[in-house]
Amino acid sequence: MTLPGSPHIAYRDDDLFIEGCSVAELGQRFGTPLYVYSRASLLGALAAYQRALKGRDHLICYAMKANSTLAVLQTFAQAGCGFDIVSGGELERVLAAGIEASLVVFSGVGKTRAEMRRALEAGVMCFNVESEAELEVLSRVASELHKTARVSLRVNPDVDAGTHPYISTGLKGNKFGVAHERALACYQRAASLPGLQVVGIDCHIGSQITDTGPYLDALDRMLDLIEQVEAAGIPIHHLDLGGGLGITYTDETPPSAELLVKGLLARIDARGHGHRKIMFEPGRSLVGNGGVLVSEVLYLKPGAEKNFCIVDAAMNDLMRPAMYEAWMKIVACQLRPEAPTNFDVVGPICESGDWLGRDRPLAVQAGDFVAVLSAGAYSMSMASNYNTRGRAAEVMVSGDQAWLIRDREEAADLFRGEHLLPRR
Ligand code: LLP
Repeated sequence: MTLPGSPHIAYRDDDLFIEGCSVAELGQRFGTPLYVYSRASLLGALAAYQRALKGRDHLICYAMKANSTLAVLQTFAQAGCGFDIVSGGELERVLAAGIEASLVVFSGVGKTRAEMRRALEAGVMCFNVESEAELEVLSRVASELHKTARVSLRVNPDVDAGTHPYISTGLKGNKFGVAHERALACYQRAASLPGLQVVGIDCHIGSQITDTGPYLDALDRMLDLIEQVEAAGIPIHHLDLGGGLGITYTDETPPSAELLVKGLLARIDARGHGHRKIMFEPGRSLVGNGGVLVSEVLYLKPGAEKNFCIVDAAMNDLMRPAMYEAWMKIVACQLRPEAPTNFDVVGPICESGDWLGRDRPLAVQAGDFVAVLSAGAYSMSMASNYNTRGRAAEVMVSGDQAWLIRDREEAADLFRGEHLLPRR
């Protein structure tokens, strides 16, 4: 059986392997629910971007919201990657992983003054500013600290990325970025404010995009703007085209990162902007296909209308199905000869929305392990403690080695910091 996604996650005979490790064995050894990542898969995904950008002034800034586990950040940093952060917490993670703040761009519509201060003190490379109001505040905060904040304006190019409404971000009706028509005035304002230095321009049009077209439309609009802004005497050093490239969960056929980037570079060169530093902020396409969520089957519950396969992972571990009705492939870690039955794969949480997959053909028994594929992105990083469930452990695999990179949360971890009222 061939699986969508990573070449490093495949069956050997009847056993699911991630690189040189049996997934069922990892489930036994580390317990479940368990996230497992393939280091080769993460590095391979990054290398596809790097190959296309070779010989150019460039930086890939991994959008760490997709998976912010320290060992994942470390893996990318060692391969020459930068980082896109959206909160003070993410900045602390980058620093805790031993990464230089000068490799960080700070995005997000709602940066607080405290976050700005900390980022300026740490020395981030650039703030991706999303509104005129934010420019004013950043100018004040930087001036108070006698620092200069390097800024890029996130422009909303008003293009339809053709993706799920919750993850489409480049349309006029979205909360993100400065409207295309306001951008020039905004740049002029930025150039006139103390404590700010304009260095770039950026956009991000959405996520799980499976077409090159929307990127080229956005690029053209960005290049038009750069020309206007530079004609007004404000030099733009870098062009950051955001993230958004989709991955294969089932039968999607997104362009490869290499193809997408090459296509964009060809347009950039054709329009005479080849000298510019080019940046991307990929998240999902770097980590998505390289991870699986391993879970044990607790009970099979046949019913008149539906059969339920109750597993020990739940919506708190993997929120994407409940939140976006996302379809993620679920497979048995050890194939059985029996014919499969259609199951709704559900977790133990007290909500009907607690499902991981519906109508999935599976040949499984209680005690078997199943794996949700392509669960490297927006999976662990979106996990919660609902129902006072500790978050899963995480393991990184490289060849036949497996390292525990995050302990499973214990109950005591979950109410640390809570306080009872005084006794009466
Ligand atoms: N840059 C910015 C400014 C972003 O907001 C995002 C993602 C990215 C880069 C990375 O996009 P990616 O390459 O991962 O598509 N939780 C949703 C996805 C939310 C994406 C939010 N922004 C999901 O599970 O599908």
